Amino acid sequence: AALKKYQFDIQVKNVSRLCHAKPIVTVNGMFPGPTIYAREGDRVLVNVTNYARYNMSIHWHGLKQYRNGWADGPAYITQCPIKTGKSYTYDFNITGQRGTLWWHAHIFWLRATVYGAIVILPKQGTLFPFPQPYREANILLGEWWNNDVEDVVKQGNKLGLPPNTSDAHTINGKPGPLSPCSEKHTFALEVEQGKTYLLRIINAALNDELFFAIAEHNMTVVEIDAVYTKPFTTQAILIAPGQTTNVLVQTNQAPGRYFMAARPFMDAPLSIDNKSAMAILQYKGIPNSVIPILPQIPAPDDTEFALTYNSKLRSLNSPAFPATVPLKVDRHLFYTIGLGINQCLTCLNGTRLTASLNNITFVMPRIGLLQAHYYNIKGVFTTDFPDRPPMPFNYTGAPLTANLGTTLGTRVSKIAFNSSVELILQDTNLLTVESHPFHLHGYNFFVVGSGIGNFDPKSDRAKFNLVDPPERNTVGVPTGGWAAIRFRADNPGVWFMHCHLELHTGWGLKTAFVVENGKGRDQSISPPPKDLPPC
Ligand code: C2O
Repeated sequence: AALKKYQFDIQVKNVSRLCHAKPIVTVNGMFPGPTIYAREGDRVLVNVTNYARYNMSIHWHGLKQYRNGWADGPAYITQCPIKTGKSYTYDFNITGQRGTLWWHAHIFWLRATVYGAIVILPKQGTLFPFPQPYREANILLGEWWNNDVEDVVKQGNKLGLPPNTSDAHTINGKPGPLSPCSEKHTFALEVEQGKTYLLRIINAALNDELFFAIAEHNMTVVEIDAVYTKPFTTQAILIAPGQTTNVLVQTNQAPGRYFMAARPFMDAPLSIDNKSAMAILQYKGIPNSVIPILPQIPAPDDTEFALTYNSKLRSLNSPAFPATVPLKVDRHLFYTIGLGINQCLTCLNGTRLTASLNNITFVMPRIGLLQAHYYNIKGVFTTDFPDRPPMPFNYTGAPLTANLGTTLGTRVSKIAFNSSVELILQDTNLLTVESHPFHLHGYNFFVVGSGIGNFDPKSDRAKFNLVDPPERNTVGVPTGGWAAIRFRADNPGVWFMHCHLELHTGWGLKTAFVVENGKGRDQSISPPPKDLPPC
């Protein structure tokens, strides 16, 4: 195992896209930010120094941070922000994980420009459990606003409405030639014919699930969220914000130029965002004057594709990488996901859109929950988050019978060490159904089932896949449907769980689990580092 050291300087830099220049927050002046490379078993130190006027905090999305929530990063959950002029060193071990993950700012909407890839290679001398690629490349999908993103959010908050959708989607920070003034802002991946390439695809977009496809080239999915899968070949992938997907691509076509495209899966009836980001797969020696071939990509409302695609995802479940699905459940949780309307005295029309789990809109605390838990500071949060909604109703049917108003609170759920947890995430038709990508910090979970409509405990549970379900850290709860996840609560700490649509996170679609310590030092939260930012 090696020690890997990185320096992240948070700096403001002028960047131009779509005929507009604006200052953006970056790491080391790069957009997207630098890639963290490590091997399974390594220890990584990232010293973050904040030279910007914004508070900062970085999350290592998908890293389990065993007993080490201090390095997890979500502001006010596991740490207070790194203030202007201050530094903090994220110090973590990468244990039992290899594959593609990513890092991003975890405070307000700053992850719009502050994000990058984490590439964890297998241990030295270990091969991938699939054909070894000739080369690999990172493909980071994102969103770009012409205006300052924090201003866009403030404007939305004032109105009590969603802020403007982004002005473009991007591939490695570039919108590609279909967007205005973007000919020179086009990512091109040069390839040789007759080889196998590994693409590490990351959805860093703030608010859109995306389809991704390459003209004339199939992709073989081999890994999701840094867990190997049973390989399957597909023309397009679907990827939700927070998720990663590794695919193998054979460069087996006539040498030429082929578009790669990312565009939103618009599942919610009110979605209007339909802009494609384009990049180019460019065979060596082909001049730029050759017009690239357009890919076929699922239609924005292709729910059928989404369901079929997700149903093909399976853990590899090999002897070396077994799927350790909890078969018995100690704790049953059922959370409804609702959008709604709350009163808002500071908003222009007196109301604002809101979001809730079990009708509770989460209120961010002013000091980190992990500190409050570790030092037993009272009055920061309560542990009375309910295991089920206040009343059962027809979740995906008539919404008006259910209460749209929500209660506010910093309420979390306490989980006994090493208990096995089953959580049903049920979308509801409060305001509108929509697919919500739910992310749990500190863990991977198994997606043992999902479906459309209301979850039926008897018939749906009987159909759970307890053999090789996909294991991941972010699950797309289907539009007007449900997803069932299971995990073993063996990582003590305070772990955030939220919708990875930044819009909904901001509206309160989040909560946290306090996983209690087990016995002795080895099953307890490690002591905090000395340089942890003070609150
Ligand atoms: Cu990728 Cu809590 O976030």
